Amino acid sequence: MADKKRIGVLTSGGDCAGLNAAIRAVVHRAIDGYGWEAIGIYRATQGLMERPVGAVNLTIPMVDRLLVAGGTFLGTTNQGNPFAFPMPDGQLLDRTAEIVAGYHELKLDALIGIGGDGSLAILRKIAQQGNINFVAIPKTIDNDVDMTERSIGFDTAVNIATEALDRLHFTAASHSRAMILEVMGRDAGHIAISAGIAGGADVILIPEIPYTVANLCERIRQRQIQGKNYSLIVVSEAVKTEEGQIIEAGDKRYGGIGQYLADRISECSGAETRVIILGHTQRGGTPSPLDRLVASAFGVAAVDLVAEGKFDRMVAWQRREVIDVPIEQAIARYCVVKPESTLVKAARGLGIYLGN
Ligand code: F6P
Repeated sequence: MADKKRIGVLTSGGDCAGLNAAIRAVVHRAIDGYGWEAIGIYRATQGLMERPVGAVNLTIPMVDRLLVAGGTFLGTTNQGNPFAFPMPDGQLLDRTAEIVAGYHELKLDALIGIGGDGSLAILRKIAQQGNINFVAIPKTIDNDVDMTERSIGFDTAVNIATEALDRLHFTAASHSRAMILEVMGRDAGHIAISAGIAGGADVILIPEIPYTVANLCERIRQRQIQGKNYSLIVVSEAVKTEEGQIIEAGDKRYGGIGQYLADRISECSGAETRVIILGHTQRGGTPSPLDRLVASAFGVAAVDLVAEGKFDRMVAWQRREVIDVPIEQAIARYCVVKPESTLVKAARGLGIYLGN
């Protein structure tokens, strides 16, 4: 590799707060730290499929105000698997060769990809096929990337869900209602359990722990007996019905378990219910200070890995430090809430109904 490098950076998969802060850190470290060039690639791998290649030479002034900006100014996508890319005529095409050609057309020495487990698996496969020097940065509000305690975006999502609970508390109490807050997280209940504890929920349901409607209602009845005429229930979007049915909002997206629970709760406890689906508000807006911090540290560390010639690695947060791990290990399985974990113990210790 040349001494003065050109490195590419892209964001892939669902957006979240803190992506821009990570791009900013990559640009600062590359330009200020090493005197390299930094190239931003638009819309994940789609920019590399386009001709001319969808990319921009990044400068420090361009990223100046990005620390606090939500979303990703490079754009992203969680659609269109490049190995079976849906073409306008309905064909599914493997577009790996075009992506690799786009990378080489930009004359890049390395690529930094900011993504969740799905995106990182795709980018790694492309990198292996195309001889691309690849370094990964984990992001996802779901916090389910393995080998890292933190992913960019998770803390902001927890903050938003907690604030929602803080607000729901008062209106629930005023109207004597059971309020059901449905949060994102896909197959991992990290957002639900963290926000549920922080926001003082009475019930937290996560995909990892089975529950019964009878026990959930018993918890609500106990509160009624204690003179507490309202309840806050947090449910993770991928929680199934008691009968094991997945509820989808269509298009392979989760959504609707909150309403299912609301109907069951009013049947068994007589409580008036309301459902709040928090949805994409969890991904938007200004990143929390912690997400800015994690994103900044990850961005710098990723560029340092390129400088050291360490590729096929993902930066990771472990025990207060940023380290690097093999991407292969990080994507081998996704990280769910473990039934014996501290937060599960804390929730149970607080008398929160968390399932059986
Ligand atoms: O993976 C992040 C996430 O926000 C999940 O929590 C959620 O299920 C999904 O993406 C929603 O995806 P979309 O943006 O396609 O609706």
